[in-house]
Amino acid sequence: MGWWLYLTLVVAAAHAQETCLSVNENPYLLFGSKTAYLFANNNVPVNRIHDVPGCQPIAFWLAYRHGASNPTESEIPELKKLSDFKNNILNNYRSGNFRNTNQRICASDVNLISQWEWNSRINSTFAGNLTSEGYMTTQQQAQSWKQRYPGLLTDNPHDYLIKYVDDEISGSTFRAFTEGIFRTQAENYDFPKEMNEKKLKPYKSCEKWKNEVEDNNDTLTQKRIFQSKQEFREMITNVSLRLGFNYDIHPTLVYNMYQMCRYNKAWDISSVSPWCSVFTREDLKRYEYAEDLETFYKYGYASDLSPKVGCSMLNDMVAFLTKHAEHEQPQQPKAQIQLTDSEMLLMLLRTMGTNQDPAPLTGDNYHTNTAQNRKWSTSLLAPYNANFAAVLYKCTSNGNFQIKDRYQVLFLHNEKPVVLEGCRVGLCDWSLVIQRFGELANKCDLQFCNGAKSVQSWGIVALVTLVLLKVAL
Ligand SMILES: *[C@@H]1O[C@H](CO)[C@@H](O)[C@H](O)[C@H]1NC(C)=O
Ligand SMILES: *[C@@H]1O[C@H](CO)[C@@H](O)[C@H](O)[C@H]1NC(C)=O
Ligand SMILES: *[C@@H]1O[C@H](CO)[C@@H](O)[C@H](O)[C@H]1NC(C)=O
Ligand SMILES: *[C@@H]1O[C@H](CO)[C@@H](O)[C@H](O)[C@H]1NC(C)=O
Repeated sequence: MGWWLYLTLVVAAAHAQETCLSVNENPYLLFGSKTAYLFANNNVPVNRIHDVPGCQPIAFWLAYRHGASNPTESEIPELKKLSDFKNNILNNYRSGNFRNTNQRICASDVNLISQWEWNSRINSTFAGNLTSEGYMTTQQQAQSWKQRYPGLLTDNPHDYLIKYVDDEISGSTFRAFTEGIFRTQAENYDFPKEMNEKKLKPYKSCEKWKNEVEDNNDTLTQKRIFQSKQEFREMITNVSLRLGFNYDIHPTLVYNMYQMCRYNKAWDISSVSPWCSVFTREDLKRYEYAEDLETFYKYGYASDLSPKVGCSMLNDMVAFLTKHAEHEQPQQPKAQIQLTDSEMLLMLLRTMGTNQDPAPLTGDNYHTNTAQNRKWSTSLLAPYNANFAAVLYKCTSNGNFQIKDRYQVLFLHNEKPVVLEGCRVGLCDWSLVIQRFGELANKCDLQFCNGAKSVQSWGIVALVTLVLLKVAL
C-alpha cells in the first residue's frame, strides 16, 4: 500500500458517512448461473435421507451440472482489463475524486482492491475447466448421494451408466463424480459410459433453435430494455460514483467487476472478494435479474422451442424409469447419471412445467411482485453443481396407506422435493408420472431441429408428386 493511500486512509477516517461493503455480515450471494451451490441451497440438511415408508428405492436417474469453472477463453481478456482499471480506482481515491461523499468507497474496500492481482495461472490452458473447489464439491455430492441410497448406489461399477460429453470440464466432472462414489478405486474401474453430445446437449447442434433463439437478436430484447431503464442505469451511476468517477463508466467494465466478484465467490466461498465490495445488494440483484431475463427467453417459458429441446432429457429419464417399473426382475444399470449443463437443466424444468411464474418476466416489470418473487431464478434453479434427480421406489401393498401405485417416483431438484401438482412433497404415483410426462417424453423428436430443411424437402416431394400425377394423368 503506497504512502498516499495511508494518508488518504487517515483523511478518509474523518468521513463518518463511509460504508464498507466488504464487511457486510449478510452479503448478497446469488449470482445467477455462477452461484456457488451452497449459497443457493444453504438450508438443505447434509445427508438428508428421503425415506419412504413401505418402499424401496430401485432406480436412480440424475442430471448434474458441473461445479465452479474457470473463465472461458473469451472472458479472460475482459477480466484482465481489471488490472489497469484498478489503478484508475486507486488514482481516484488518491486525488479525492468524489462528487458525492455519501457514495464513496470506504478505505478498507479500496485497500482490498489495491491488493488484488490477476491470477496469471488462469490462462487459456485452464480456460473453462473445473476449479479445485468445483472438483471437491462434485466429489462430496456424489459421496453424499451414495450415503443416502446405499442399497442403490453400490460399489459395483456395473450398476451405473454415466453419460457425458467429450470436453475438459465434463471429463473432470466425470472423474470427480466417480471418485466421490468409489474413492481411490475409481481409477481401476472401467465404467459403463456413453459420450454423446447430440443427446446430452442437443441445443448445441440444433440449427432451428440456434437460428430462432440463440442467434436471434430479439431473444435479448427484454434484457436490453431492462439495461436501458433507470433502475439499471442508476446502478451503473452509483458504482461509478462509489469508485470516484465523475461520469458513468462503461457498462462492460462494471460487468467485468461483477464477473470477477462472482467467480471469486464461486472459487472460494469463504473469502471476501475485493470486486464484490464494489456492489450493494441492490446492484447485485439487478445483474441477477438481467441474467434471468436472458435465461427466461433462451431456455425458459418465453420460448416455445425450449420444451422441444428439453424433452430429450425427459425422454431419457422416462425411458430409464419405465424400464425399471415395467420389469419384475431388477434391471441394469440401476443408476443413470447425465453430466450436463445449466442450459439443459433449465430446459428440463421448462419441459416439466416447474417454476413457472404467473406472468412473463420483462424488461420493465423489475419492481413488480412477479419479478421480485420470481420462481424463474437462475441462481436457485441452476447454480454450480445443480442437480435434478428422479428416484423410483417399489412399494409393498399395504406398506404405506398414503400410496396408491406400487411404483412411486421422488423428484428432487437440488436435493429438495419438487412441487408438482397431484404429488405429495415430490413423491408421485407412477401412473401420474406417465400421465403427465409420458407423452411429452415419447413424442420428443429432435428432427424439428432441421425443420427449415424438411419443410423444403416436403415442398419438393409435393412438387414431384404433382408432376408425377400430371404425367400419370
Ligand atoms: C498457463 O500457465 C501454466 C502454469 O502457470 C503454464 O504451464 C502454461 O504454459 C500456460 N499456458 C499458456 C497458454 O500460456
Ligand atoms: C482440469 O481440471 C481438472 C480438475 O481440477 C484437472 O485434473 C485437470 O488437469 C485440468 N486440466 C487442465 C488442462 O489443466
Ligand atoms: C440487435 O438489436 C439491437 C437493438 O435493436 C441493435 O442495437 C443491435 O445492433 C442489433 N444487433 C445485431 C447483431 O443485429
Ligand atoms: C443509487 O443511489 C441512490 C442515492 O444513494 C439511491 O437512492 C438508489 O437507490 C441507488 N440505486 C441503486 C440501484 O442502488
